Amino acid sequence: MTIGIIGSGAMGAGIAQVVAAAGHEVHLLDQSAAALDKARASIGANLRKLAEKGKLTAEAAEAAIARLHPTTAMPDFADCGLVIEAIVEDLAVKQQVFKQVESLVPADCILASNTSSLAITAIAAACQRPERFIGIHFFNPAPLMQLVEVIPAVQTRTGLAEEIRALVASWGKRPVLAQDTPGFIVNRVARPFYGEAIRILEEGIADIATIDWALTELGGFRMGPFALMDFIGHDVNYRVTESVFNAFFYDPRYRPSFTQRRLFEAGYYGRKAGRGFYDYAPGATQPEPNRDPALGQRVLHRVLAMLINEAAEALHLRVASATDLELAMTTGVNYPKGLLAWADELGPATVLATLDGLYHDYHEDRYRASVLLRRLATSNQRVLSA
Ligand code: NAI
Repeated sequence: MTIGIIGSGAMGAGIAQVVAAAGHEVHLLDQSAAALDKARASIGANLRKLAEKGKLTAEAAEAAIARLHPTTAMPDFADCGLVIEAIVEDLAVKQQVFKQVESLVPADCILASNTSSLAITAIAAACQRPERFIGIHFFNPAPLMQLVEVIPAVQTRTGLAEEIRALVASWGKRPVLAQDTPGFIVNRVARPFYGEAIRILEEGIADIATIDWALTELGGFRMGPFALMDFIGHDVNYRVTESVFNAFFYDPRYRPSFTQRRLFEAGYYGRKAGRGFYDYAPGATQPEPNRDPALGQRVLHRVLAMLINEAAEALHLRVASATDLELAMTTGVNYPKGLLAWADELGPATVLATLDGLYHDYHEDRYRASVLLRRLATSNQRVLSA
């Protein structure tokens, strides 16, 4: 099957590399010839580097490169069986592009968006045949990240999600199925990792170095929340937080913080700007954590309880299956274990006690416990067997 990719930026180029390496002919389209040149060069360099490392043969790398056809002309899409869009995150622009795509591709060509924050259903609504529309959400960098979220729209025909899941698996990826709800799985369930850490900072309970230490050293997370936000960039991370909050009709569980908003406004985007929560100037002194185990555990358990609550609520509302929720968080954001397994390890009653304690102290809706967690805690059941 020939695949069309629209947008050759960070994501489009990565997706093109994945599908070309998997054996598909690829039309990679961008409105910018410069972006296409850059994408072609980086895909070629990546594939040849993989060949040098012995991950694929030199012949396979060259064959994949030969399957890649950069273009600025959409009529080249006439032979596509699947088109994946990865352009600017703007609903009206995406809808417009799909209208044009539909006028050129075969009637049975599947249409997909890689959007992170728009509703798949809303993009599909602009199509003549929305039943062939679906979300295929990769993670950055697409060639390295195993996880792909597959998101059927309200209009998507029965069976298409499973077909796409099988196709994505054939590319060597780990697909999960998610409902078309804000943030899908990962960008929803991960929110408290950032938001609750900032809240702890704002209240003066612990500083950034201590919170990062608690989550990495005591919790086993690869990066602490502040180091990770600086790495992702506050332009990206703040915008995702804000869009998830808006899309959830202003549910206080997802409320952005003024602290991050100010970093965003100041242009202190993190590592790439030389400054974020941490100072990346050469020779800048880094803050030392307070390695008090009791404080560390308190911080860790507060963030963890909020993450587990989010996963439990996503399970309760059937955003995804328990298996897919666990796979998404361990492969999409490299959590040391699945949050539902973590809930079972700590005991749902312990997690619930942390949340109820916070709710009692603050009287804020933000800390309301998922009814699923409450039921399991009361009946002494495990989350994963729920
Ligand atoms: P990017 O800014 O790196 O690339 C976008 C590319 O699309 C640019 O090369 C631009 O010239 C091209 N483009 C824009 N409008 C176009 C049009 N009308 N026709 C043809 N080409 C057009 O953006 P990035 O980061 O690759 O994101 C693309 C999409 O993927 C967005 O929807 C984003 O939400 C989503 N996404 C981004 C992730 C990330 O971490 N960057 C992760 C997962 C999804």
